[in-house]
Parts: sequence; structure tokens; C-alpha cells
Amino acid sequence: MSEQPRDSSAPTLFTWEFASDPYPAYAWLREHAPVHRTTLPSGVDAWLVTRYADARKALADPRLSKNPQRHSAAAHAKGKVGIPGERRAELMTHLLNIDPPDHTRLRRLVSTAFTPRRVAAFAPRVRTLTDQLIDAFEGRGEADLIHEFAFPLPIYAICDLLGVPREDQDDFRDWAGAMIRHGGGPRGGVARAVKRIRAYLGELIHRKRLELAERGEEEDGEDLISGLIRASDHGEHLTENEAAAMAFILLFAGFETTVNLIGNGVYALLRHPEQRALLQRALEEGDERLLAAGVEELLRYDGPVEIATWRFATEPLTLAGQHIAEGEPVLVVLAAADRDPERFAEPDVLDLTRRDNQHLGYGHGIHYCLGAPLARLEARTAIATLLRRLPGLRLAGDPEDLRWRGGLIMRGLRTLPVTWNSADG
Ligand code: HEM
Repeated sequence: MSEQPRDSSAPTLFTWEFASDPYPAYAWLREHAPVHRTTLPSGVDAWLVTRYADARKALADPRLSKNPQRHSAAAHAKGKVGIPGERRAELMTHLLNIDPPDHTRLRRLVSTAFTPRRVAAFAPRVRTLTDQLIDAFEGRGEADLIHEFAFPLPIYAICDLLGVPREDQDDFRDWAGAMIRHGGGPRGGVARAVKRIRAYLGELIHRKRLELAERGEEEDGEDLISGLIRASDHGEHLTENEAAAMAFILLFAGFETTVNLIGNGVYALLRHPEQRALLQRALEEGDERLLAAGVEELLRYDGPVEIATWRFATEPLTLAGQHIAEGEPVLVVLAAADRDPERFAEPDVLDLTRRDNQHLGYGHGIHYCLGAPLARLEARTAIATLLRRLPGLRLAGDPEDLRWRGGLIMRGLRTLPVTWNSADG
């Protein structure tokens, strides 16, 4: 790695204490070492970019590749990067691992299937799923909102959207559970879950391709996998392998993120009673505008993607005065950028009414989150329905006792125990 003088007052990163509140450490980095070299717990050396302006530039910089094969051989020998098991599972062709022109072609193809219209048509199903999940615990007066609500909602939603038959969805719930537990559990379990999901999706796509060949015409309400199979760009279609990799990345990118957007968002509201009361009042009056702005602020304040996915320098370059050698990994810390006082007034304050809130929670540039419309739909529906149906919702126990998952990319709670008077429901 290129040299950077070590500063003995630099905060220790990636400990459990750091995971519970990384923001003071990020404030230090923004001020003293905005492009900072660190060794990750995996043993891999990487550069952390923490200021908003630098982060935005880095996210859109074509000299930073998403292709893990650009990782310098020497650095790669120290530790692996990317989704566990994905190499073996031949999932390398997904959007977050490729650059133009392949990225441009695949993103255009998937965008013809994963349209805002398809997502909007899905809204009633998300409402039904949300209500069913709350029905299951509302009479009890207590629940773990991660396991019983934030976790199952996106998994059933994405299964429905993709067209995974209902009878197979609980298998998916188990595999997804194994994937999400990697913060504390064995990595082998993640690789196995990834392999199972990949094999299942491969078979499902094959089956649907045969069905489509028999059916011919497009039908109303067709699922997303059928849409992916039909998607064409200048007469070109996705191969079965590309369609499976695409379905997988929609699941992988859209699942834990949504769990944590709901989990972190509800937690932040419960810790800020005056903001929550403001939102609750607006909802009671039938005004949903604050809900939309509020979900964006929850994303900025404590979003699910703490660090954007891996990038690698394709040539020697300088970022904020720091020299970065070819092949070195660059990690853009979205959580730090979104609390940069140079960009946001009083960045450590949660203000649901904040204006000009161009946060980086969904990324920026050509890899900007493809699922943002679905994420917004799910988070708005989940938060509004919870507050409407359980107006007396409160944390059960001491916030100090809550544990955060210690993953590199994602930020989220392991559990969120809550209580309410059952008469509320
Ligand atoms: C719930 C909140 C979500 C957040 C905060 C989020 C955040 C992000 C971010 C930060 C990126 C860019 C990563 C980078 O540049 O390194 C991204 C990309 C992506 N997201 Fe999301 N995401 C969310 C939900 C979803 C959902 C629900 C889906 C799909 C079902 C999804 C699908 C994707 C895909 C496919 C990409 C890659 C796009 C590309 O490389 O062109 N995301 N997301």
C-alpha cells in the first residue's frame, strides 16, 4: 500500500464499541485523515474516504473499478473481498462487480424489467404483508421488531416480486437468515446459503423460461424473473446465468439493506420522541409528505449501508491529496459523508423536516441503488403502519444493551425489543 504516516491519536476502528456508535470516529477521520489507510479485520488494507465532497466524487470516478479482479495481487493474497461464496457460485457478473460497458448493458436490461411502474403496482401487496406481520404479534404487547417484522417483510416482498412460489418462500427465509447472521456466525454458513439460493434461482429461471416459451404473450402482473427473461436490449437477452446473477443481486442488495432501514429507522424514531410525535401527528392528519422526507432523513442519519461496496484503483491516482496506487481498494464511508458538517447543517441532529437532503445513502453515479423505489415503498409502509397501529410503541429495555451487527458494509441491530400497551393495537 502507498505510505501514509500513522497517527497515534487515530481512533480504533471495527471494534464492538465502534460498531455501536461509529460516528465520533468518523468525525475524527473527516477532520484529520479524510482519506485514511486502514487494515480491515479480514487483514485486507484499504483506503477509507469520509468527506461528503470526496465521497461523491469517488463514487462516480471511472478510475475506481468495481471489478474485484482489479485488486492488486499482493493485496489480494492477504484476504478476500466481496460476497462469501460468490466466486465459486459463478455470480461474478452482477451489477456491483462490473464496469462499463458490461455494466451499462446489464443495467439497461434489468431496468426494462425492474421499473418504477412494476414497483408501484406492488404497493398493495406490501401493505398486506406489513399488516399480516403486525397481526401476528399485536395482541402480545411485545415483540422483537428485527426478527418478527423488519427481517421477514423484505424477504417475502422480494420473493413475491421475483415470482418465487409461496410454498418455497420459507426456505428462502431460512437461507436469508443464514446470510444475515454472518456478522457473528461462521462464514461457511453464508457460502452454503449463497450456493443454495443460487442453485434454486437457476432452476426457477430455467422453469420459467420454458413456461414463457409455451405462453408467448406477456401477461398482466407478470413477475420480475419473467420480466428479466423477456428483457431485451437491441434484440439481445440475458443468458440464464446472467438472469440468475441478477435475481441474486436483487435479493442480496435488497434484503439486509431493507431490514436495516426499517430497524435503524424505527430505533432512531424511538430515541427521538419529539420527531416521532411530529411524524405520528402528520400521519393522523392523513399528511404523508413528512413520511417521505422523514424516511430520507432516517437514511442520512443512520442508514443501512455504512460503507459502499468495494472499489479498486485502475491507475495511480490522488484523492484529497492522498496518493493511491493501482490495485488498492477504496472504501467510501457513506455514514461519515452523510454526517459531514461541510454539507449538512447540524449533521448529528435527526430532523425529519430537513430540506436539501441530498444524502449518499443510496450511493451516487452509475451504481446508484437500482432498488431505491422499492426500498422507499417498503420503509414508508412499514414505518407508517407501525406508528398507526401501535401508537404507544416504545423500546423495551436499555438502549445500551442493544447489539449492532459487526459487518463491514452494513449497519444494523441484531435485535430491537419493543413493547406497547396491547390496548393500543
Ligand atoms: C433499503 C435500503 C437500501 C439502501 C440504503 C441501498 C443502498 C444501495 C447503495 C449505497 C448502492 C450503491 C453501492 C455502491 O455504489 O457501492 C446500492 C446499489 C444497488 N442496490 Fe440498493 N439499497 C437499498 C435497497 C435496495 C433494494 C430493495 C434493492 C432491490 C430489490 C436494491 C438493489 C440494488 C442494486 C441491484 C444495486 C447495484 C446497482 C448497480 O451497481 O448498478 N437495493 N444500493
